[in-house]
Amino acid sequence: MQLRTVSQLLSEDVKLPEVDIKGWVRTFRANRFIALNDGSTLNNIQCVVDFEKFDEAVLKRVTTGAAIHIKGELVESQGKGQNVEIQVNSLVVLGDSDPETYPIQPKKHSFEFLRENAHLRTRTNTFSAVMRLRSALSFAIHKYFNDNGFYYMHAPIITGSDAEGAGEMFKVSSLDAKNPPLNEEGNIDYSQDFFGKETNLTVSGQLEAETYAMSLGKVYTFGPTFRAENSNTSRHLAEFWMIEPEVAFMDLNGNMDLAEDFMKSVIGYVLENNREDLEFLNTRLQNEDKTKPQAERSEMNLIDKLNFVTQNNFKRVSYTEAIDILRNCKPNKKKKFKYIINEWGADLQSEHERFLVEKHFKCPVILFDYPANIKAFYMRLNEDGKTVRAMDILFPGIGEIVGGAQREERLDILKEKMAALDIPEEELWWYLDLRKYGTAVHSGFGLGFERLVMFATGMSNIRDVIPFPRTPQNAEF
Ligand code: 4AD
Repeated sequence: MQLRTVSQLLSEDVKLPEVDIKGWVRTFRANRFIALNDGSTLNNIQCVVDFEKFDEAVLKRVTTGAAIHIKGELVESQGKGQNVEIQVNSLVVLGDSDPETYPIQPKKHSFEFLRENAHLRTRTNTFSAVMRLRSALSFAIHKYFNDNGFYYMHAPIITGSDAEGAGEMFKVSSLDAKNPPLNEEGNIDYSQDFFGKETNLTVSGQLEAETYAMSLGKVYTFGPTFRAENSNTSRHLAEFWMIEPEVAFMDLNGNMDLAEDFMKSVIGYVLENNREDLEFLNTRLQNEDKTKPQAERSEMNLIDKLNFVTQNNFKRVSYTEAIDILRNCKPNKKKKFKYIINEWGADLQSEHERFLVEKHFKCPVILFDYPANIKAFYMRLNEDGKTVRAMDILFPGIGEIVGGAQREERLDILKEKMAALDIPEEELWWYLDLRKYGTAVHSGFGLGFERLVMFATGMSNIRDVIPFPRTPQNAEF
């Protein structure tokens, strides 16, 4: 007999005399109805036990969370709520679950509680749906790039350079932390460290991806990135996954077109292929919304929001236009913003980004041409000498989801920029080489994968869309 999944069995509309299934017990009602789940679908299969046929001692072990193996007959269901069910002929408990201590009881648990039990939380409907969607989104991303002629490039995780120049990096060292070797100036002598230099976990694979774009043409990375910023918000992780395409001979307009098409395509993929999980999350959010005051309720449900993104153009707005809108908007004038926008050059905070997307434009927005001094060193300087060819994509409910730019391809200007920011040329000699040998216009962007998963699932805390979140003071599991 072939072992099947719950998903396969639930889609059968014929009687099957012999089926064989393994999974975890969600509930066991009236000593008769087992709701069994194996992760293949949100839904459980009902397994009907004739208790007279089974040893009482075995049935006692059929508790929530236990792993069991069932053989039986797939029949049309007598009850409501499912088309088919299994009449159980054989039942073996593979792994017991102590009902006194098993944390995932069949009742509503808070997300905080489930975070503390992240090793078991995918046994709930919400987290299994979120993680199946996470998996589908990563597949959709690889599919999009593969279908569009991109090569997948694995950027290094340990690096000697700070791609974003923000200095928020985790050190990688094998030196004895209690007694590190010191140089003549009394500083740690990294020449004696494992790599013979100071190294960190990468904050972005972009610089390395640029080297591949300048030979393979169209590439992307999809890997873990690390930031030691102490931001304890619902949108920041210390370890997150980033997708970074990089394309030779493409300018900022091409970059915006690519990003928009890509975002629409991956969201469209889950709308088409993950309907069951999306509908479950949609209902969950609608129920949650009903408990909120009218003013805080969402204007659109989750599925409408996803459809809206796939069907409407993203609004493209320059930073300068955005500042004009923000300077003159009500919350700014009435000092409702925490950071008041007074002049051109201000860095936009999440409250401003969300105002633009959620209140003003009411659609995804691509902001471009930011002031040079609030953006990274590698972005291409515009003719005005004060703005750079940067772009950020802002999404409703999320804020910034993508950050990217046309890269500075002119050697002299790049060197000037690095000098002004005290970035040593020796550290990035190989990056400068790209501008010496066959330089060309090129662009790319970075999508924060967890922010995409948040948007697609409607989850409001980034800790709930990654299996084991790493945040300040938290690296459990
Ligand atoms: O805007 P960022 O810092 O851009 C870069 O790292 C560029 N090198 C990307 C590129 O051009 N190739 O980060 C890109 C995206 C952000 O828009 C956000 O979605 C996500 O990465 N991100 C985070 N996600 C979770 N936790 C954090 N701490 C994040 N920091 C950035």
